[in-house]
Formats: sequence, C-alpha cells, structure tokens
Amino acid sequence: MIQTDLREFLAAVEAGGELKTVHGAHWDKELGAVTEVLYREKVEKSPLLLFDDIPDYPKGMRCMYGMMGSPLRLALTLGMDPDLAGDRMVMLNAYREKMKDHSPVPPRMVNGGPVLENIDRDGDVDLLKFPVPIHHEDDGGRYIGTACGVITRDPDDGRINMGTYRVQVMDRNIAGSYISSGKQGRIHRDKYLAAGKPCPMAIVVGIDPACFLAARYTLSDTVPELDWAGGLAGAPIECFEGEVTGLPIPVNSEIVLEGEVSPDETVMEGPFGEWTGYYSGVANEEPLIRIKRVYYRTDPILTCAASQKPPHSHLFERCFIRSAGLMDSLQGAGIPDVKGVWCHQAGAGRTFIVVSIKQRYFGHANQVGLVASQVNPTGYVGRYMIVVDDDIDPSDIHDVIWAMGMRSDPSRDITHLTRCWSSRLDPMVTGDELYNSRVVIDACIPFERLETFPKVAQTSPELAAEVKKKFPDVYD
Ligand SMILES: Cc1cc2nc3c(=O)[nH]c(=O)nc-3n(C[C@H](O)[C@H](O)[C@H](O)COP(=O)(O)O)c2cc1C
Repeated sequence: MIQTDLREFLAAVEAGGELKTVHGAHWDKELGAVTEVLYREKVEKSPLLLFDDIPDYPKGMRCMYGMMGSPLRLALTLGMDPDLAGDRMVMLNAYREKMKDHSPVPPRMVNGGPVLENIDRDGDVDLLKFPVPIHHEDDGGRYIGTACGVITRDPDDGRINMGTYRVQVMDRNIAGSYISSGKQGRIHRDKYLAAGKPCPMAIVVGIDPACFLAARYTLSDTVPELDWAGGLAGAPIECFEGEVTGLPIPVNSEIVLEGEVSPDETVMEGPFGEWTGYYSGVANEEPLIRIKRVYYRTDPILTCAASQKPPHSHLFERCFIRSAGLMDSLQGAGIPDVKGVWCHQAGAGRTFIVVSIKQRYFGHANQVGLVASQVNPTGYVGRYMIVVDDDIDPSDIHDVIWAMGMRSDPSRDITHLTRCWSSRLDPMVTGDELYNSRVVIDACIPFERLETFPKVAQTSPELAAEVKKKFPDVYD
C-alpha cells in the first residue's frame, strides 16, 4: 500500500538510500536549479530531493522533486520487486506482465483523514502560505501545480477525470492553468464555461505516487484515473467529498486546492519551462480559477515536477511507461517478436525511440518502425525511430549508435514521413500548420545477410564470466 501515501513512500525511498534532504534553498529559482544541476550530472542515479527550511517559510513546509525519477523509486511506486530495478528491459517486461492483471477499483468515500487536518476557507485562503517555487529562471511566476492532479467532473455524464496540468499562482486565492486542447480536463472545463457556468475543480498539489502516475497518463475515457490508481494499489483510493464542489478528493493528499474556474474572467498565464526543453512562448490568457478551500496536512509537502531540457527529475518514469505502452501497441497491432523498446530521456521521451526485434521476414524492421512512428503512445511529436536487432539493448545508447553506424546504409535504410502529428510546443513547428516529419532508421542487419554478416568482436559471455571469476579485484 505504499503507493497511495506519500509519507510511507518516502520512508521506503529513504530505506532504499535514495532520499536526500536539502536545507535552506530558496523558493525563488534555487529549488529548481539545485534539482536540475543534480539530474544533469547523475540522471536516474539522482536521489529524491526533499527541500526543508525554505527561506520565508516555517520549517516543515517542504517541497519535493524527483518522486519517481529512478528505477528503484518507480519500482516502489508500481509495487514491484525493487531488485528488478537493475535491468530496464527486465523491469519493463515485469511491469507489462503485472498490468495484464490490472483492473480498476473505484474510490471509497470517507469522512476524515490526513489532509483534513487543516482547512482554510474563503477569506483565509492564501496560496503563498506554501513555499511555491519559481522553478525556472524565466518562468512567468510561481507555479503551485506541477506534480499535481486536477480533478474535474464531466457535466454531461458525471465522469471524474484527474490530469496533470500546470497551475500558476496569481494572487492569494487566484490561480490560472494551461490545459492543452483535447485533454480530458480541458473538455470538461470548456463544457461548463461554454454554458456560462463555473467549472468545479479540485487541484491536488501534494499528491501520492499512484495518483500522480494515473494523472499524467492518458487513459481511456471509460477508466477514471482514481479507479486506475486504486487498481494499481490493489485497494480503493480513499476520498472525501470536497466542501465546495462535491468532487472526490484523495484524503491522503498533502495539499489540495478546491474552487471554481470562472466562465467570464481570465488571467495572463505563463510562460513556463516545458518538456521540450524550451519555454512555452509568451504569457497567454487563460480562465481564472478562484480557490475557496485549501486542505493540508500539518508540515505539508508540495510535490514538484519542473520540466526542462533533458535529462530532468521526472523523465525516467515517463520514458519507462511510454516504452511499455509502445510494446503493448506493437503487439496489439499483431507485429511478432518485438523484444524491447526504449524512449530515450535525451529525446524527452518522444523524439528518439528505439525498438529491438528478432527479425523474422523481409521488411519486418521497416514495418515495426513505421507503425511505431504513428501509433499511440508515441505517435505525437515523434522524430527519430530506430529499429535494431535483439542483440542490441535499446536502452543502451552506445549499443544503439553502434548498430546505426555499422548495420544501416543511409542511402537505403532511412524512410521519411511528412505531415505527421505535432504540437504548438514543438520548437520546429511554425505557424498554424502543426505538422512535423519523421524518419525510420532500419539499423538491423539486412535480413538476407543474417547468416553471413561478420562476427561481432566482443568477449564471449563464457570467457567474460571466467575472467571475472579469476580476476575479481579488477571488477570491484
Ligand atoms: C509534470 C507534468 C506536467 C504536465 N503539464 C501539463 C500542462 O501544463 N498542460 C497539459 O495540457 N498537459 C500537461 N501534462 C500532460 C498531461 O498531464 C497528460 O497528457 C495527461 O494524460 C492528461 O490527462 P487527460 O488525458 O486526463 O487530460 C503534464 C504532464 C506532466 C507529467
């Protein structure tokens, strides 16, 4: 059950030696910078960072970055054996196996629980009572919602959605959020606003790992994120009914903001450092959110996830889950012998994707690459799709570049696709035509030469095991 309570999760992370507390870093740009510098140096070997003694704020008001940013922390979130975290492909396959048995568990409504320890109502609401960071130097303001879950209800069918959308503090009780078109939270919100009605909203800004994982992935319309998180945890997420909105809100949260989006008032929101590694343009008008209740635990933890130029503190889990999703999609498309997938962090989990296969027939590699370049969850803002043989670890960039260099012929093995699905956030897209192009690189040994291709010059596994045993001091 450790996935549904952030404090129990933190205790497990500490026991695993991956928690570091930092004292005295400032909310104004330092928290984000400390985190970024660490992740740039250590990538997924970085510990989770818990910031305390933040200037201007009482001890105990904490901020946290890098919740699932390592194989161990993701394994703990997913309720998997931490020993699997040593090998990405083994962990990926174990996760896919586990998810075969996943079935949603609806939340259980309760009347009391940790986040109800403190409640600020109406005039007492002050969003800046928490050490809300300026995450990047050129952000348009202080962002309270980054690693968060924004809960809304579809006014037509009552379906509950929880999505991760950035939330900026504008004033003591005023916020603004950017939700891209097509996201389920945006569809809910716009239905209320189009009818001239306020949209009820609850924003969990101190969120537990299972709910954060659920909020950030696009699930089918028929599976509410709270139910998916319950399925992952193997027990219902305990929720209370929001005083203002009646929305179900996880009671184990650290901090929750509850209020309404105004149908006729806007604020200037942004810019913000985004997942592409670039700032998101200029400030834009977004609907105003009026916060009427703030619920929080004593000594609360504000959960943070500031995107930026990769690598960064919440990219590992994104790459992992997207890789698992692509394997499922390729298998679902009936393609045989897909052995591994890795969406590389350097490509922000989208633009550099590698699939390994056991080649079975002429054209197998191209088939895989072309489908993978379009199918969800990798069809959006893709760029480079590389297909390699199954002796190549798709997550090992040395292996991959070696295969590209030695097994592909650029004049023959690169296929271009144009007018593909992109986004306004894509820095290579200009104007209103939101297309980009893709290449599929067949970096597999040509199928007709599988038997005759030169032998790889590498120590055999038998001799490697023998020398390791004989000269253990060399490998300490
Ligand atoms: C840290 C983080 C921040 C995100 N910020 C935003 C955002 O500001 N706006 C947005 O539309 N999507 C954002 N996303 C992506 C959405 O959370 C994601 O597409 C999710 O699947 C949306 O849920 P939905 O399908 O229920 O709308 C973010 C994701 C993460 C992990």
